[in-house]
Amino acid sequence: MLKPPSPNRRAALATMASALTLCALRPATVQAAGVATGQQPPAPGDALALPSWDDRPRVITPADLVLNAPPLVVYPSDITGKTVRERSRLNQILLVRLSPDQLDATTSRRAADGIVAYTGTCTHAGCSVSEWDASARQFLCPCHSSRFDPAHAGTRVAGPAARPLPALPLKIEHGRLLVAGTFSGKIGAKSA
Ligand code: FES
Repeated sequence: MLKPPSPNRRAALATMASALTLCALRPATVQAAGVATGQQPPAPGDALALPSWDDRPRVITPADLVLNAPPLVVYPSDITGKTVRERSRLNQILLVRLSPDQLDATTSRRAADGIVAYTGTCTHAGCSVSEWDASARQFLCPCHSSRFDPAHAGTRVAGPAARPLPALPLKIEHGRLLVAGTFSGKIGAKSA
């Protein structure tokens, strides 16, 4: 038969239970302390930052994007770059700068000075869209060779993916590159 806990053990258990309740009820406090949460998707007003293992400056500015250069892989961040939500692969964002006159009307509305942003997660089976075809200026997923056109709303131009790459609207404010909206579609291998 189980013995009832001693008074000291009861007190310790009560303290643990109280601490667990606080953790569950106060995620905003953890976030405010600058701890990367990892799970929240990008939101309007977020900055975009290089991951913490990269030794370049953390928060991206428009000057970091070179015309037609391979995409930068960035993550949503607070404006200081101290809280980078990099722990979820669903938060991987591809940034490229294209000539504004190459963009279709939908992409122009989402772009900031020719800079466009897309999820880095393939809509076919969820691999990372990690390659760039410089001559065609297209994203390429190495798993099954789906290709996406960043100048035309992330449209699939080859391969088995059924949907475009969801886009993330951008804006420039006070010289900062910021998120201006939410992704245009579901992230990853889900139907639209
Ligand atoms: S997961 Fe990208 S093409 Fe299959």
